[in-house]
Parts: sequence; structure tokens; C-alpha cells
Amino acid sequence: QRKKVFITRKIPQAGVALLEKSCDVMINPEDRPLSREELLAKVAEVDGVIGLLTDKIDAAFFDAAKNLKGYANYAVGYDNIDVAEATRRKIPVSNTPDVLTLATAELAWALIFAVARRVVETDAVMRSGTWTGWGPLQFIGLDVSGKTLGILGAGRIGAAVARMAQGFGMPLIYYNRSSNPELEAQTKARKVSFDELLAQSDFISIHAPLTPETRHLFNRESFSRMKRTAVLVNTGRGPIIKEDDLVWALRNGVIAGAGLDVYEFEPRMAEGLSELKNAVLLPHIGSATNSSRDGMAELAARNLLAMLASARPPTILNPEVLG
Ligand code: GLV
Ligand code: GLV
Repeated sequence: QRKKVFITRKIPQAGVALLEKSCDVMINPEDRPLSREELLAKVAEVDGVIGLLTDKIDAAFFDAAKNLKGYANYAVGYDNIDVAEATRRKIPVSNTPDVLTLATAELAWALIFAVARRVVETDAVMRSGTWTGWGPLQFIGLDVSGKTLGILGAGRIGAAVARMAQGFGMPLIYYNRSSNPELEAQTKARKVSFDELLAQSDFISIHAPLTPETRHLFNRESFSRMKRTAVLVNTGRGPIIKEDDLVWALRNGVIAGAGLDVYEFEPRMAEGLSELKNAVLLPHIGSATNSSRDGMAELAARNLLAMLASARPPTILNPEVLG
């Protein structure tokens, strides 16, 4: 009998096609996230679900999805999943690492340069028709080459950002729970304390998962320990920054600028953020390239198909449930 699969939002056809070979696939037809009630109702009869970082996968979800044999996240971050609860119920869950590593690292670089060279602010000047011609003192920004790059989180994406930094001759430091010897060998990156990361970095790029330890790691106190010329870039998870405190730091020149792809309370932004010229603001597009999104769809589908066949999913988060 064909298994029933539900996908909580339209994803690239590459993944849907893989599932349709052997499963009955239902997809949320609307271009918006489902409400909590809609989600719980839709999963009542299905064997497997592919969901998004905006879907909360917790005890109430597992209670509602009483036939569930597996859940595949369409994201590398999985702070939306209660993995311990899934494991307690022996339900495999997975994420989509690797396929979005380069796309996300590239976006971190887009933000670093956009903030340093005031790309968005000056684009607006051109569009407004108010530019008066070249001037020696106009729109002076920050140097990037040779400056110290601090990386928070030395996983796949953080390491990719570090490798790319070598092209700009940037000394590299990183803060991570464990050390990453491969990264150190490849890039001469040096592991430092969080204090040193704050004090020494000219640019800080966030690539840590959202956990109780990383929530609000960047707050008034940590901004005060950064260089006044420093730039903070976040393509990881919004709540790692206390966003009201960032507005305070940017407004008062405590740090020089910020580039954000993620927000503390998506899709909302902290009050005042959108008025700040030293902030570049993107709508959570880190993985938004064709190859990355196709790769995520295929990987999520392959994970779910393996779960439905009681086989080993390629990127399972709780392998202990496989027995
Ligand atoms: C996107 O934010 C992801 O975690 O894949
Ligand atoms: C996290 O899993 C990463 O890819 O950096």
C-alpha cells in the first residue's frame, strides 16, 4: 500500500517527484505557512511529513500525527524540532546539511561587503536621483581585506566562510564549543574565547545553531565589548542576537554596522531597525539558490523515503531510534 506523505509548503519539484514514485503526496496548496491548527489537522492520517523551520515539531504535533513514521525538516537548522521528544517516541527526524553550505556562506559574504561598502544605502542614493557626481569624501566605507574575521560556530557553514576569507587575506579566529582541527589546518584559524572573539574581530559572522547557550549571546553587554568599527553579520538564527539591543548598538555607534538575514521574531523586525542606514536587511534567503533549494528538496525526500522503508536516512538527527 502506498504511504501517505504531507509537505507543509510547496517545495521544488525535484523532491516531490522522488516521493511521488512510491507515495501519495499532499502539499499545502497555499503560499503561506499553515496555522498550528491547520498543521495538526493535516497530519492526522499521514505516514510521513516534510516541514519547514516555521513548523513547530513537538509533542502536540506527534500526538496529532498518530501514524507518523518519520519527519524530514526542509532546513539545516532544527531548533523547531523537539528531537528528544521524537527520540522518546522512536520517530526518526532529519535535516538538510551540506546542500546549502556554500549558498549560505556566500550570502554571509554578500552581507559583509554590503555593510562594509554601504551598497544598499548608496544604491538608494542613485535611485533617488540626488547624486551630484564623484567626490573624495563621499560614502566612505570599511576595508575588508586584511581585517580580522571572527566566526561564531565552526560547523560546515562557518568553515566555508573561513575558507572563502583566505582570498581576502583575513586573519581568522573562531569561537565554538569544540575545536575544529581540520579548519585550523586548512585556514590557520585560531580558536578563542567569546570575549576574545568580541574584542579582536573587525567582522563577526554567526554560524552557530540556536540553543539555550547561544540565545541572546549578542546583547548590550557583548556589543559593548566589540570594536566600535566592527560589523556583525547573521545568516544563522535570529534569536542569537537580542534585536532590541542591536538597534541600540547601531543607533549609538557602539558597533559600526550589521547585516541580517534572520530575525529574533520572524517575519517581524525590532522597532527602529528598518530606519538604520548602517543595517542591511534580507528576508531569510541564505539557502535561496536553485541548486541549494533543489538539493534540500531531494535530500528531505530521500530522508523521508528511507524512514518510510525503515532504512537509514542519509542525514538523520537521532540515529539511536534505528535500533
Ligand atoms: C535555514 O534557515 C535553514 O536552517 O536551512
Ligand atoms: C550546520 O550544520 C552547518 O552546516 O554549519
